[in-house]
Amino acid sequence: MSFCRLNLRVVLCLGIMLLGSATLHAEEQPIVPAAYPEGPLGEVVRLGELLVNETKDHPLSKPFIGNQLNCTSCHLEGGQHPDAGSFLQTATAYPAWSPRENRVITLEDRVLNCFMRSQNGVRPPNGSQVSVAITTYITWLSTGSKIQMNEQKPLGPRHVPELKVDWSKANPVQGKEDYKTYCLDCHGQEGEGTDDGPPVWGPQSYNDGAGLSRVPKLASWLKVGMPLDDPSLTEQEAADIAAYINSQQRPKFKLEEHLPPAERLGEYNHEPARP
Ligand code: HEC
Ligand code: HEC
Repeated sequence: MSFCRLNLRVVLCLGIMLLGSATLHAEEQPIVPAAYPEGPLGEVVRLGELLVNETKDHPLSKPFIGNQLNCTSCHLEGGQHPDAGSFLQTATAYPAWSPRENRVITLEDRVLNCFMRSQNGVRPPNGSQVSVAITTYITWLSTGSKIQMNEQKPLGPRHVPELKVDWSKANPVQGKEDYKTYCLDCHGQEGEGTDDGPPVWGPQSYNDGAGLSRVPKLASWLKVGMPLDDPSLTEQEAADIAAYINSQQRPKFKLEEHLPPAERLGEYNHEPARP
């Protein structure tokens, strides 16, 4: 009898352990939800997905875009890539503290900021169709994950990890050589882009207020994302190439030029830093 009870306890215990590891596994390996939501909500998720993939051409997003990039140019596979600009679990981090805006910002704010900087465009009004659709799509990609609002920065749990590189040794001269070897075929001699890859510098690329315009951020992203067919750069190569790309000309970011007319702005959620 007592033997039996012991056995039952072992079984129960094993069962709980298995269940525990399965939950852990699900947390570690976020997956794209198997189905779109029903009805109008599902339609808006699909519209958001389309806008993320065809940002520069779709009539709803095009008026707000100032370069030849789409969200998916950096948020690879429409943000469904697990590492390179992943949108998986992103919504769980918001609202989040943003040192840049000196405010707590929502996921919608975060989406709109990428329009101004990475897309070198104009901030769509809060609550506009394009803004709601993209925010809805990104939120859907966090289905099943638990809220874990970020107190430090507006970034989700799968943001690109920082590289452990001595940035004073990032060498743009070596980076130029590596660019020719690994990148030029798709991104062009002058970074202008080709049929196989978008512009990486020049007037049609991200502006100098964008996340990727910072060498460490670009290097981290390159490490997990490029070359597209085989992301295999060493940390030093990623740092050198990032230093080279970001030493080239690109549009200058002036906030006033990227805000819509006051009556269409809603409220731009930021507060100037106090001295
Ligand atoms: C030129 C590259 C680029 C483009 C184009 C771009 N982004 Fe981003 N975006 C970034 C980078 C880099 C980050 C920071 C990601 C990281 O650290 O992992 C970011 C962050 C974000 C975040 C926050 C992610 C998080 O983990 O919290 C959102 C949301 C976002 N972008 C939305 C968009 C949307 C929507 C578009 C299209 C309208 C867009 N981005 C276009 C580069 C880009
Ligand atoms: C096989 C072609 C190919 C190669 C090789 C390649 N890329 Fe890309 N790259 C792409 C494509 C395509 C995208 C956009 C992804 C999408 O739309 O799905 C992209 C996106 C980018 C972006 C973000 C968007 C932009 O234009 O700013 C950067 C930066 C970038 N690549 C840099 C590099 C660097 C640096 C290398 C070399 C280490 C490299 N790529 C090698 C095809 C390539």
